[in-house]
Amino acid sequence: MKMRAAVLEEFGKPLVVQQLDLAEPRPGEALVRLVACGVCHTDLYTASGTDPSGYVPTVLGHEGAGVVEAVGDGVRDVAPGDHVVTLFSPQCRECLHCESTRTNICLAIREQQGQGYLPDGTARLSRDGEPIRHFMGTSTFAEYAVLPEIALAKITPEAPLDRACLFACGLTTGIGAATNTAKVEAGSTCVIFGAGMVGLGAVVGCRLQGAERIICVDLSDDRLELATNHGATETMIGGDDAVARIVESTDGFGADYTFEATGNVGVMRQAVESARMGWGLCTVAGVAGKGETLDVIPRFLITGRRVCGSSFGGIKGRDEVPQLVERYLAGEIDVDSFVSHKLTLDDVSRGFELMEAQDGIRSVIDFA
Ligand SMILES: NC(=O)c1ccc[n+]([C@@H]2O[C@H](COP(=O)([O-])OP(=O)(O)OC[C@H]3O[C@@H](n4cnc5c(N)ncnc54)[C@H](O)[C@@H]3O)[C@@H](O)[C@H]2O)c1
Ligand SMILES: [Zn+2]
Ligand SMILES: [Zn+2]
Repeated sequence: MKMRAAVLEEFGKPLVVQQLDLAEPRPGEALVRLVACGVCHTDLYTASGTDPSGYVPTVLGHEGAGVVEAVGDGVRDVAPGDHVVTLFSPQCRECLHCESTRTNICLAIREQQGQGYLPDGTARLSRDGEPIRHFMGTSTFAEYAVLPEIALAKITPEAPLDRACLFACGLTTGIGAATNTAKVEAGSTCVIFGAGMVGLGAVVGCRLQGAERIICVDLSDDRLELATNHGATETMIGGDDAVARIVESTDGFGADYTFEATGNVGVMRQAVESARMGWGLCTVAGVAGKGETLDVIPRFLITGRRVCGSSFGGIKGRDEVPQLVERYLAGEIDVDSFVSHKLTLDDVSRGFELMEAQDGIRSVIDFA
C-alpha cells in the first residue's frame, strides 16, 4: 500500500514528508493505522546525527498509538480493530529475560531491530522498490506501520489515543523507573533530577507508590510548577550545590531514592551523591552523550548506596502498558497536562524545534 511518512533523508536536515510503499504484514506481524504519535528526544537524537548507531534513510517515530488494520499468519494477541500502543521495547513472553521478573529487556528481536529490520531480517518500508529501514522497530511518524505482534500493547478502546501514545515511551519510562525499577516504598523520600517527560513521569510514579517526600530538581520554574501539580511535595532549582541542599534537607543523610532524568552525566553524579548512606538507590534513566562516562567516588558505594539503570522503566510492555492506561482512565495519572502541542505529520520538524526550545513537555502528531 501507499502511505505518507516523514523520512530522515540526511542527518541534521528536516524530515521530508512523502509517499512510501508499505508491504503487507508477514507472519507474526500486524499493520497498524497510526492515530497519534509523540515526538521524543530519541527521535531528535537520531535525526541530529549524534546517535552513533543511526542510519539514513529511515522513518523515525516510536511513541505511537493506533488501530490494528490487518494481521499476518499466526498472530494471536491482536486483531483488526484493536487499539494498540507501539513498543520499541517489545515483550515476546518466551525468552530468558521475558521469563525473568528481574528485567524487561526482551532478547527476541534486539539484533534485527537495532539494524532497522523486522524480525525476519527484511523491511516492509520501501520507495521505488528500494527498501527503507525501520527505526526502533516502530517507525511511527507515518500513517501506517507494520510491527511485530510482540511490539504491540493492546489497550482499552476507551482511552483516547492522543493521550495513550505517551505511554509508548517517555511517560512509562518515568513512572516505571519509580514503580518497577526502584520499587519505591510508601513513606520514603525521593529526589527526581529533571522535570521533562521522563522526570515528571518519575514524580507520578513516586506519588503512586505513596512516597512521603517528592523533591523535584530542574532549572525551569515552569517545569517545577508542573512537577508540583503531579505530586512533587518540594521543588528545587538545580545547580552545583544541589547535593548539599538535598543532604541538608534530609537530616544530613540523603534521599531513600533518587532518579536522574536529564541525560547529563554531571547530574547523574549528583543523583548518586544525594542518595542516602546505608540504602539509598539511584536510578539512572537519562541517556548520556556518546563517549561520556559517569564519575562515581567508590566510597559512596561502600557506604551503602546503589546505582541502577532503567530502560523503559523496567516495564514489560504488553503486560503493563495496558494497566498503566487503565490507571490513567481511573484518574490516577493526569496525562492531559503533558500534551502541550498538537501537530500534523507535515509539521513534524516543528516538534523538534519546540523540544529544543523546551516549549511544552510533549508535542503529539495527530493523524486524524
Ligand atoms: N531510559 C529510557 O528508556 C529512556 C526513554 C526515554 C528518554 N530517556 C532519556 O531520559 C532523559 C530525559 O528525557 P526527557 O524527555 O524528560 O528530556 P527533557 O529535556 O524534556 O528534560 C530534561 C530536564 O532536565 C533539566 N535539567 C537540565 N540540567 C539540569 C540540572 N543541572 N539539574 C536539574 N535539572 C536539569 C532540564 O531543564 C529539563 O527540564 C533524556 O536523556 C532521554 O534521552 C530515557
Ligand atoms: Zn522515546
Ligand atoms: Zn522476550
